[in-house]
Amino acid sequence: MAVIGASGYGGLQTIRLLLDHPEFEITFLGGERSSGKSWSDVNPFIPIPNNLTIEIPDPDKIAQVSDFAVLSMPNGRACQIVPHLVKRNVRVIDLSADYRFRSLDKWNSVYLNESRSINRKDTALCETAVYGLPEWNCNAIRSADIVAAPGCFPTASLLPLLPFLNQGMIEYDGIIIDAKTGTSGGGRSPKENLLLSESSETISPYGVIGHRHTPEIEQMASHIAGQEINIQFTPHLVPMVRGLLSTVYAKLRDPGLTSEDCRTVLATIYRNNQFVEVLPVGVYPSTKWVRNTNKAFLSVQVDTRTSGIVLMTAIDNLIKGQAGQGVQCLNIMAGLSEDSNLPTNTYYP
Ligand SMILES: NC(=O)c1ccc[n+]([C@@H]2O[C@H](COP(=O)([O-])OP(=O)(O)OC[C@H]3O[C@@H](n4cnc5c(N)ncnc54)[C@H](OP(=O)(O)O)[C@@H]3O)[C@@H](O)[C@H]2O)c1
Repeated sequence: MAVIGASGYGGLQTIRLLLDHPEFEITFLGGERSSGKSWSDVNPFIPIPNNLTIEIPDPDKIAQVSDFAVLSMPNGRACQIVPHLVKRNVRVIDLSADYRFRSLDKWNSVYLNESRSINRKDTALCETAVYGLPEWNCNAIRSADIVAAPGCFPTASLLPLLPFLNQGMIEYDGIIIDAKTGTSGGGRSPKENLLLSESSETISPYGVIGHRHTPEIEQMASHIAGQEINIQFTPHLVPMVRGLLSTVYAKLRDPGLTSEDCRTVLATIYRNNQFVEVLPVGVYPSTKWVRNTNKAFLSVQVDTRTSGIVLMTAIDNLIKGQAGQGVQCLNIMAGLSEDSNLPTNTYYP
């Protein structure tokens, strides 16, 4: 099992989740700036067996020691190595956005800056990669060579939204997503806006109109609805380290539906998904309830005056929003129980 991007937040969480996993052994650690350093030089607080040295990811070397690779790198990096890994029969879980769009042209237009410096030719791999939202794509994930784990905002927003699109219960126009995330969403490499002095005691929107998760959410929403869906999405940075809360607003087609009716829809669709918890009506999710877990807590409330439906989700952006979802997919790909070694209960408070 190889983890590339081991020094970063996603790599680090993946390694923690795999450390005492009954079926996987970490055999290769990949990185760029950290290459040549031993694991304990970079992360002395989580010891791993053999204290592997982080290396520049060489596909031949990875294929010699690994059947699977989890890639957790900035956008535009995975696509430079994945074709070589797949050719060598290494199955890939990519936590970046490189394989989330079925169309390479779409990726090129959404990830414009990244696409300028690389000339991707892996159109076919984009078409065959599976969007790794296990609650909706479990069968396809099982046999996939490349699984593209969804972004954190798409995960939290799609989980409550898809059931209502699938059942045709909401208007397709006018869907609004308002979401908040902690600073770890920006990764471990230094960024000025994520300094404590910049991001504490304040809350602000970013990426308004045109955030790169918008087309990703639209792609999956359209696929499930069976027609093109456009959404309005605004993320906010809030002064906490981890956690993501998404609130989705839509209009019900049937004005007679109640909160209990809509809760029943969610509870029925997710009755066999142990990582999705549908809360009782009137109980609203908190990011603290899911911290360090692979859970998504969902809640729904209907405003009978306006036929508005409000859908709420809390996840840990680094676990269900990233590495935990990656390990969930990995378990499925390996034919294991989906929840193998994934935490479901938080330490509270
Ligand atoms: N953070 C979140 O909440 C979140 C949620 C969902 C998805 N994601 C996505 O997951 C990916 C990783 O995010 P992150 O937050 O974990 O980032 P991060 O903390 O900044 O870590 C990035 C990692 O990529 C490695 N890397 C960069 N270029 C490389 C290369 N050419 N070869 C090998 N390794 C390379 C870095 O290694 P060195 O230190 O050795 O250079 C580092 O370990 C991103 O695509 C992000 O969009 C993040």
